[in-house]
Amino acid sequence: MNQPDSLPEYYDDLTLSFEEAWGLITAGVTNRNSPSHMPVIGTVDALGVPQMRVMVLRNVSREERTLRFHTDSRSTKAAQLHHNAATSVLIYDAAAKVQIRISGKAEFSSQGDIADTAWLTSTPFARRCYMAEAAPGTPIAEPSSGLPTWIEGKQPDEAQLADYRENFAALLVKVETIEWLYLANAGHRRARWHWDTGQHAWAGCWLIP
Ligand SMILES: Cc1cc2nc3c(=O)[nH]c(=O)nc-3n(C[C@H](O)[C@H](O)[C@H](O)COP(=O)(O)O)c2cc1C
Repeated sequence: MNQPDSLPEYYDDLTLSFEEAWGLITAGVTNRNSPSHMPVIGTVDALGVPQMRVMVLRNVSREERTLRFHTDSRSTKAAQLHHNAATSVLIYDAAAKVQIRISGKAEFSSQGDIADTAWLTSTPFARRCYMAEAAPGTPIAEPSSGLPTWIEGKQPDEAQLADYRENFAALLVKVETIEWLYLANAGHRRARWHWDTGQHAWAGCWLIP
């Protein structure tokens, strides 16, 4: 016979579920083994088709309601987001038995303090991706990393990286809604919170799972 779930404190508590949601999201910044370290980011292309890809979560500010990612300013997703800022972020934490669906608006920062700091605090190897000579997604005749051959297999130094800084962008997702699904044999729990701009506060309610 299945043992009943040992239910967490937040099971029937909307406020604690919200705290747990932010805790799981934020864990992805520092814990590489956390599922929220590599969420799926959704955008909408010019034809209205949803497009998804994995990205590394770099920073979370609960106060600012932002999630920060890094990407190539020449990428397809950058073009999509300039056209339509609507963004979704999907996390499934199997150990926690929690799915988190976030929606918000993307803000690109390719110049200024946020992007400069993000660039300078990334490792040289991580920044080497931005040394690709052509934009990511450009068709090529032969298989290739797209990097200049002289840097293949090597770690670039700061001087070598400087020329490629303009290819780097910080992508900030300004969170507007957070949806929560907690799986339990005793009964699933689902909730959604949205940022109420008038009240300047989060407003949440339970949903039928
Ligand atoms: C584990 C993993 C982590 C990734 N992290 C990033 C990332 O942080 N930023 C990024 O732009 N692409 C990242 N990618 C690549 C994207 O998933 C995607 O293939 C690429 O950005 C091109 O997407 P686009 O054509 O929609 O712009 C990652 C892929 C994997 C598999």
